[in-house]
Amino acid sequence: MIISPSILSADFANLKADIKKVEPYVKWLHIDVMDGHFVPNISIGVPVVKSVRKATNLFLDTHLMIENPQNYVEAFYKAGSNLITVHYEATLDNTLNVINQIKNLGLKAGLSIKPKTKVSEIEKYIDFCDLILVMTVEPGFGGQSFMNDCALKIKEIKELSKKEDLIIQVDGGINNNTAKICTKYGANSLVAGSYIYGAEDIEHAIKSLTEK
Ligand code: DX5
Ligand code: ZN
Repeated sequence: MIISPSILSADFANLKADIKKVEPYVKWLHIDVMDGHFVPNISIGVPVVKSVRKATNLFLDTHLMIENPQNYVEAFYKAGSNLITVHYEATLDNTLNVINQIKNLGLKAGLSIKPKTKVSEIEKYIDFCDLILVMTVEPGFGGQSFMNDCALKIKEIKELSKKEDLIIQVDGGINNNTAKICTKYGANSLVAGSYIYGAEDIEHAIKSLTEK
């Protein structure tokens, strides 16, 4: 199980210190990029990823919640991202091109679906990806409640994929209880923001996400 703490819930004025708080317990760090168009919020961009890259050796899992992601893939690659996930809804006819653009840079490529998007819409792209990200909240904000119905998509994706090493990641409303649901359905990566950064004991919170 790959746990990817979302720095969206960190203190941006103390970002390095907040990254150091999770660093001993994880291998990945989740970076939420929002443009105010694809989602109704603005978060962080390329310069911050560049600085994060200097602050840590963690694997940078970059979740682009932006329109026209193809125009920014290279900049995030240069900034130091290791994996770039784009939203299917933002790529439309261009989906395979964007996935290949990411892979051709030597990065891992992820494709994400919003709660209202069906798995059947991305079925043909699944095995071209390294990771499929199932959103269990409407993207845009941390601290929202987990949408149970969306979790069923994990199982659907797992059944459709022929790739043994496909990463099925879940993002939104993850805590020690919802993590169990995702694990049961076959998720092998969980993103958590408010649950980790809001915890008194961060180590315990992270470990609780992998408890059976
Ligand atoms: C939401 C982001 C998430 C967010 C999760 O659009 O994609 O990564 O940080 O926050 P929590 O874990 O608080 O739901
Ligand atoms: Zn995210």
